[in-house]
Amino acid sequence: MWLLQCGVVLGILFLLILVAALRLFAFFTKGICRSTASMKGKTVIITGANSGIGKETARDLARRGAKVIMACRNLETAHKARDEIIKDTGNEEVIVKKLDLSSLKSVRDFADDINRTVTKVNVLVHNAGLAYMFDPKITEDGLELTMGTNHFGPFLLTHLLIGLLKQSTPSRIVIVASELYRLANLNLNNLNPVSGFPAYLYYVSKYANIVFAQELARRLEGTGVTVNSLHPGMIDSGIWRNVPFPLSLPLKIIIKGFFKSPEEGAQTTIYLSVSESVEGVSGKYFLDCKEYSLSHRAKDAATAKKLWELSETFVGLKPNDPHI
Ligand SMILES: NC(=O)c1ccc[n+]([C@@H]2O[C@H](COP(=O)([O-])OP(=O)(O)OC[C@H]3O[C@@H](n4cnc5c(N)ncnc54)[C@H](OP(=O)(O)O)[C@@H]3O)[C@@H](O)[C@H]2O)c1
Repeated sequence: MWLLQCGVVLGILFLLILVAALRLFAFFTKGICRSTASMKGKTVIITGANSGIGKETARDLARRGAKVIMACRNLETAHKARDEIIKDTGNEEVIVKKLDLSSLKSVRDFADDINRTVTKVNVLVHNAGLAYMFDPKITEDGLELTMGTNHFGPFLLTHLLIGLLKQSTPSRIVIVASELYRLANLNLNNLNPVSGFPAYLYYVSKYANIVFAQELARRLEGTGVTVNSLHPGMIDSGIWRNVPFPLSLPLKIIIKGFFKSPEEGAQTTIYLSVSESVEGVSGKYFLDCKEYSLSHRAKDAATAKKLWELSETFVGLKPNDPHI
């Protein structure tokens, strides 16, 4: 009997040591943006800046003196976040503007407003993202909601703001993707999978983010506008809010035990937005503030070109819209 008890105690001890070792490993390998670059005189747009990584990115860039435009769909939480950031940083130039990336009309309205009221955009951070588990949803434009929010909306927005970005060179586009792209395939024969499984489509949309970033970088070569994508790590943020019970219970334990805080998760986005060491760097993928390799599939230029052409059709890009 005591042998069994000893075994259980040793087993628990081993598990505790393993967890501590994993946490230590995560702590010492997480990337921190060490750049002290000032952002005074620069204008940045951050989508989904009312919570999670986006809010921490906004806070950091505001602290560096940037004029920060928080592009958010939920104005109530956005205003609260803005007030908190202003109080925290003393930078009054933090502005909220309405943007619902799942609506092509909202994207156009937002871009019209920006083009009318702003003279430059030095950094555009595509941060907003949405993940559903079950229950497929379709947007007012007939697009599958996850792909609409995470890929098609940002695709259209980039086109509509490209004039300002080119006018503000050197300027940067930063795209928050995910390593989970490796679990997916980009099916170019069905880029709007309205009856697909939303949890899987999240991975697909992140795949599309990475492929889009590389094609965009190719098309913007020599313009002074750089484009890079990133994986922020696994973060304790609102992105998991749609995971249903009882799956949410074990997930909560994993999140609280192992995931990064939103502030830690924002580091690579901040690094790509401000650091002098990535000045002129374009078409790359980053993790923990370091360049990271992509799968061969994700680097395929023919796939990227086709994704681009199909996306132009899905977002209804007009002949007089800016083309890239
Ligand atoms: N958390 C992770 O472990 C993880 C891992 C890899 C990649 N990422 C990526 O990191 C990015 C930021 O996510 P997060 O972790 O910080 O989660 P989050 O706290 O849920 O933030 C997501 C943001 O996107 C906004 N958003 C969602 N749908 C939108 C829409 N239709 N229009 C405009 N904004 C919309 C949300 O606004 P509301 O508050 O209105 O919903 C929220 O501000 C996402 O692109 C996500 O895919 C996260």
